[in-house]
Amino acid sequence: MNIDISRLQAEIDELALISENPPPVVTRVLYSEADMRGRAFVKTLCTQAGLQLREDAVGNIFARWVGKEPNLPAIATGSHIDAIPNAGKYDGVVGVLGAIEAIRALQKSAATPRRSIELIIFTSEEPTRFGIGCLGSRLLSGVLSLEKAGALRDRDGRGLEAWRKEAAFTGSLDSVRLPHDRYSAFVELHIEQGPILEKESIDIGIVEKIAAPSTLRMHLIGVGGHAGAVLMPGRRDALLAGSEIALAVEKAVSSTGSPDTVGTTGVFRIEPGAVNSVPCRAWLEIDVRDTQVSTRDAALKQIESVACEICQRRGIELQAERLNVDPPAICSVELVKRVTETCASLGFSHQKMISRAYHDSLFMAQICPTTMIFIPCRGGFSHRPDEYSSPEQIEKGLAVLAETLAKLSA
Ligand code: GLV
Ligand code: MN
Ligand code: MN
Repeated sequence: MNIDISRLQAEIDELALISENPPPVVTRVLYSEADMRGRAFVKTLCTQAGLQLREDAVGNIFARWVGKEPNLPAIATGSHIDAIPNAGKYDGVVGVLGAIEAIRALQKSAATPRRSIELIIFTSEEPTRFGIGCLGSRLLSGVLSLEKAGALRDRDGRGLEAWRKEAAFTGSLDSVRLPHDRYSAFVELHIEQGPILEKESIDIGIVEKIAAPSTLRMHLIGVGGHAGAVLMPGRRDALLAGSEIALAVEKAVSSTGSPDTVGTTGVFRIEPGAVNSVPCRAWLEIDVRDTQVSTRDAALKQIESVACEICQRRGIELQAERLNVDPPAICSVELVKRVTETCASLGFSHQKMISRAYHDSLFMAQICPTTMIFIPCRGGFSHRPDEYSSPEQIEKGLAVLAETLAKLSA
């Protein structure tokens, strides 16, 4: 396989410079100027590789190497290039730029495939703008209704319609949904975002299951006032209620009896944010996940009921909303087997694993057989600027991806 890993590394480095923050920080929030410039960079590479481009009404990008039998369901691969605030350069990007390099390598070394191979660059895998992740793949798989999509709001109350029109994605959201026979397989290459592969010196992880994510958004309305004049017994401090809720999240997920339950209060904003003023409002976004739905759901219920008690006791109005409560995805047994065979034929050590992070694969699994190829990342770090996978690790992942795409499309 003719993989040009130096060219790919140079492209990863170049895309990382398209960011809302100076290096090494990568931030590309949905529809920001950096996101739009990142998309343009990737589209240029796709065009240079001779891929046929299409964009849908929410900004999902499809780049197709047209096969000899273009009417057959295609083989899909892909990931995302949006990045949370203070992120690194590999999350998602390895599965996008890596897939372009895999296709270029196949173009050099193999004949045109029978089935088309389609790269998908999903819109907003990260939840930063609207609170839910995988916006593009939720819509194309039909998991997110148009009504719910229309109700999405960012922290300033601005909706998806306004944002996507400003980004010049004007078609009807109706048209984003794809038929279930469009793809015969989806395979996503991604960094592990956990420590197992590195610790155990394993080249490749093959994903069998993706943990079930959920997100709660809470708006706490208290009563503000002068930090000197409002005496302690009369206070209705939104920050203190929010702090108790954040601690309750930790307690709820730590007491399910399952080590797989995790909970994070990753957003906690207050108003007015002045040192001499009692916080009158707080916004919390809480991420709760597990490999088992039952334990995840029990933790969610406990968090919601304790939040009600806390707010009642403190005289705070609570508006709570479940932004998403998703089931886990079970990957295709057949695809896992195919990827396992490919790893063995290439002489790479490999292991089946669970993805604790979510990915667009969670929703692609609803419309076609799906699996993921994981490569190790240093220390298991991700969602941080020091996120890193070596060129050698990436090259192995690419070799597995390219071979798998070649076999599936033949
Ligand atoms: C995806 O980035 C996740 O939060 O799992
Ligand atoms: Mn991520
Ligand atoms: Mn990702």
